Amino acid sequence: MSELHPDLARILVPEETIQAHVKVLAHQISLDYADKGPVYLVGVLRGAFIFLADLARCLTIPHVVDFMSVSSYGKSTESGVVRIVLDLREPIDNQHVIIVEDIVDSGKTLSYLYTMLKSRNPTSLRTCALVQKPKEKQLDVPVDYLGFKIPDVWVVGYGLDYADKHRTLPYIAELKPSVYEK
Ligand code: IMP
Ligand code: MG
Repeated sequence: MSELHPDLARILVPEETIQAHVKVLAHQISLDYADKGPVYLVGVLRGAFIFLADLARCLTIPHVVDFMSVSSYGKSTESGVVRIVLDLREPIDNQHVIIVEDIVDSGKTLSYLYTMLKSRNPTSLRTCALVQKPKEKQLDVPVDYLGFKIPDVWVVGYGLDYADKHRTLPYIAELKPSVYEK
C-alpha cells in the first residue's frame, strides 16, 4: 500500500469496507422503496457526490438524482450558519425523497435541510448519511440510513474534504489536528 499523505493520521474506514456497506445501504433502500415509485435522491454538494454516485448505481429501484448545495463552513472546521447556494430543479411534492449527506457533525445542515424540504410536502422524507460523529449537542435529526459512526475527529476522503483537499481519496481518513489547528 502506498504511504499515507503526511496530513493524515490514519485510515478510519478502508475502501473495501465503504464499498461493501454502500451496497448494504442500497439494498436496504431498494427493499424499503420497492413498489413505491421512483425515489428522489437529494445529494448535498459537494461532500456527498461520491457517496451518492456509488449508492445510486447500486440501487435496483427507479430513482432520480438531484443536488442541493448549502454552505455552512469556510476553511475552518467550526459549524456555522447554513445558507442555500443551489436549490433543486424540480418541486418535490408527490415524491419519495431521500436526503443524501456526507456527514452529520453538529446536525445543523441535515436538520435545516430536513425542515426545509419537509415544508415542500414530499410524499415521504428520509435521510441517509455516510458518517455520523458522536456529539453531545448534535441536533436531534433522524438518520434513517447510516454508513458508519466515527469518532469526533475531522475526516477526509470519499467526498469529504478539508479546505477542498483530500476529497477524492477512496477511503475515509482522520486528518491530523496539527493540519487544522495551525
Ligand atoms: P453539521 O451541519 O455540523 O452537521 O456539518 C455538516 C457539514 O460540515 C457536512 O456536510 C460537511 O460538509 C462538513 N463537515 C463536518 N464535519 C466534517 C469532517 O469531519 N470532514 C469534512 N467535512 C465535515
Ligand atoms: Mg456536506
